[in-house]
Amino acid sequence: MSRWVGSISRTAFILGGIFAAATVLANSPAPAKGDRELGEHLSSMCTACHQISGRMSGGIPAIVAWPDEQFIAVIQSYKDGTRDNETMRTISHRLSQEDIEALASYFGSLPAPKAP
Ligand code: HEC
Repeated sequence: MSRWVGSISRTAFILGGIFAAATVLANSPAPAKGDRELGEHLSSMCTACHQISGRMSGGIPAIVAWPDEQFIAVIQSYKDGTRDNETMRTISHRLSQEDIEALASYFGSLPAPKAP
């Protein structure tokens, strides 16, 4: 009888350990990925011009569904002047590296529109 109880509590202990490990894993952010929630928050700065639907509008290009690295590289090129655009230069200068990664993660997660 007491051996029974012992093996149950041992099993519970092991399962508890697995849960704890899984929780730690689930909560640690994936490396080199921006904070999507922060990106969603910051995106209000962008969506006055860029359509959230991913459609081009009034000559303003679509920016959804891009790979993170590409998005980050483009914002950086506005920041360092490789790409010359007054509007985007001003905006990119307000963004920290963390902001840019967060925006890349958020906009990258939005689906591209289907062809009309
Ligand atoms: C006032 C309007 C406006 C706002 C606000 C704005 N953009 Fe832009 N954005 C533009 C225009 C216009 C272009 C095209 C510039 C060019 O020709 O290089 C552009 C270009 C871009 C591009 C490159 C698109 C491509 O196809 O090459 C990215 C990426 C981008 N914007 C991201 C953002 C992000 C992220 C924000 C918010 C932090 C933002 N923009 C806010 C007007 C805006």
